[in-house]
Order: sequence, then structure tokens, then C-alpha cells
Amino acid sequence: MTCKIDYQPAPDLLRDRVVLVTGAGDGIGRAAALSYARHGATVVLLGRTIAKLERVYDEIEAAGGSQPAIFPLNLEGATLKDFHDMADTLDKEFGCLDGLLHNAGLLGRITPFAQYDADLWEQVMQVNINGPIWMTQALLPLLQRSDDASVIFTSSSVGRKGRAYWGAYAVSKFATEGFVEVLADELDSEPHLRINTLNPGATRTQMRRNAYPGEDPANLRTPEDIMPTYLWLMGPDSAGTHGQKIDAQPPRQP
Ligand SMILES: NC(=O)c1ccc[n+]([C@@H]2O[C@H](COP(=O)([O-])OP(=O)(O)OC[C@H]3O[C@@H](n4cnc5c(N)ncnc54)[C@H](OP(=O)(O)O)[C@@H]3O)[C@@H](O)[C@H]2O)c1
Repeated sequence: MTCKIDYQPAPDLLRDRVVLVTGAGDGIGRAAALSYARHGATVVLLGRTIAKLERVYDEIEAAGGSQPAIFPLNLEGATLKDFHDMADTLDKEFGCLDGLLHNAGLLGRITPFAQYDADLWEQVMQVNINGPIWMTQALLPLLQRSDDASVIFTSSSVGRKGRAYWGAYAVSKFATEGFVEVLADELDSEPHLRINTLNPGATRTQMRRNAYPGEDPANLRTPEDIMPTYLWLMGPDSAGTHGQKIDAQPPRQP
């Protein structure tokens, strides 16, 4: 599985590209939005907490990046109509979409399956897989208009090998891997549109803290550390990479 942690992106790697990042207000999504903007992209910041998106917006502007756009949306309650309205807005504003990073995610609870709450299970599946799938369907026509579009679904180690107690989170990530295999196969005849999964690996964020409260975060890579792979997969240097399972960082030593 490809890992490009040593990749050296060109400063203008994403110039003239419009890239949508979900969960752009915090953690890995925030770092990706800032990093994509720093490399020339016009970034659409999607998330559920407007104040966090506004802070990222301000940081991009202060750094001299191309003016971003904020798209507030809670994936939990989002409907097909919301996704199609979003596609219409992006169509009017930009006319096409060159990149889509599905990053927003919900951990749910790490607990024995026998005690897993059914409503929470549904919530995790909605945010982690159902919402991203229908958003992708609504945005396909805009992505197909790009000369070189990259769609990235965020996976996880527990979406590639099951682990006890990880419940809906792990199942949603397995579904992510499966969906990307199916859609990649369908899109084989469209060389200008590629779709891959990306596993960030253990990364110092709030979600990781919630999953491993006893762990020392100082031993983890930061979201900024793993951005080389995120840039590589979003930009033209990964053209031809399609239907692959990518890792953002090398596996940690046990
Ligand atoms: N960190 C790791 O070690 C690790 C490892 C493997 C995979 N991942 C994956 O990497 C991605 C990013 O994780 P992270 O560690 O950066 O997590 P994080 O710090 O918890 O950030 C998650 C982001 O998703 C947003 N989000 C959550 N629920 C949402 C909803 N209903 N609608 C819209 N946005 C929502 C959050 O918004 P708010 O800030 O408003 O809550 C936040 O911006 C996730 O897909 C996760 O599964 C992470």
C-alpha cells in the first residue's frame, strides 16, 4: 500500500483546483484544508460547527490563500435534497469540482457488540458512510467536468482488519473500502476521475484521544505530519492511482 510521507509537493500543486473537504473544522480535515489552500486550491470547508469552519477560513485568508467557501452541513441529518442543493450551489459558484476529501467521521463507542446502542450504530453509519455515498452521487456530475478529479474516502486500520469492540465505526470503514472498490470499478473507463481510500493511521486528534485515552499523544504523528500523502493523492502526481488502498504513514512499530 502506497505511503508518500516523504513526498515533496510543488508549492502550486493544487493551483486552479476546487477541493471540498468534509469535517474541515478540526483534526485531520482542518490540516488538509489548510494544506490544500497553501498549495493553491480553492477549498470548500464543510462541517457541522460553523465557528470552527470560520476559524479555518480566517487562517486560510491570513496566509494569503485563495478565498475559501464555507458549507455548513451536519451529515447526521443530511438528506438527498441537501446534497443536491449543495451540488447546485457549487455548480453556480465554481462550475466543477476537482477534489473531494471525505474526512468527517464519528467514532461512536468502543464497546462489546452485545451492548451497542442501535441508535448510535445508525448515527455512525449515517455520518461515516451513508452521507458520504449520497454526497458523492450528487457531486459526480461536477467531478466528471474536471480534467483531473480525485475523490478520497477516509478509511482506518479497523476497516481493513476487524477488531473487537470497534462496532459501527469498523463496519462503516469496511463499507467505505467496499464502496470504493465498487465505484472504482464502475469508473474504470473515466481516466479523469479517480477514487481511492486513505488510511491516516494513528494521528494526534480528538478522535484518537477518545479512542485511546491512556495513550501519550506525544508519541503520535500530528495531522500536519501526514499531509504529504494527502497532498500527493489529491494532486496530479497521483494521476492513474485508482481503486487503491493508500496509507498516509508507515505502520507503527509494535
Ligand atoms: N485520528 C486518527 O488516529 C484516525 C485514524 C484512522 C482514521 N481516522 C479517520 O480520519 C478522519 C478524521 O478523523 P480525526 O481524527 O481528524 O477526527 P476529529 O478530530 O474527531 O475530527 C472529525 C471531524 O469530523 C467532523 N464531523 C463529525 N461528525 C460530523 C457530522 N455529523 N457532520 C459533519 N461533520 C462532522 C467533526 O466536526 P466537529 O469538529 O464540528 O465535531 C470534525 O471536524 C475520520 O474519518 C476518522 O475516522 C482517524
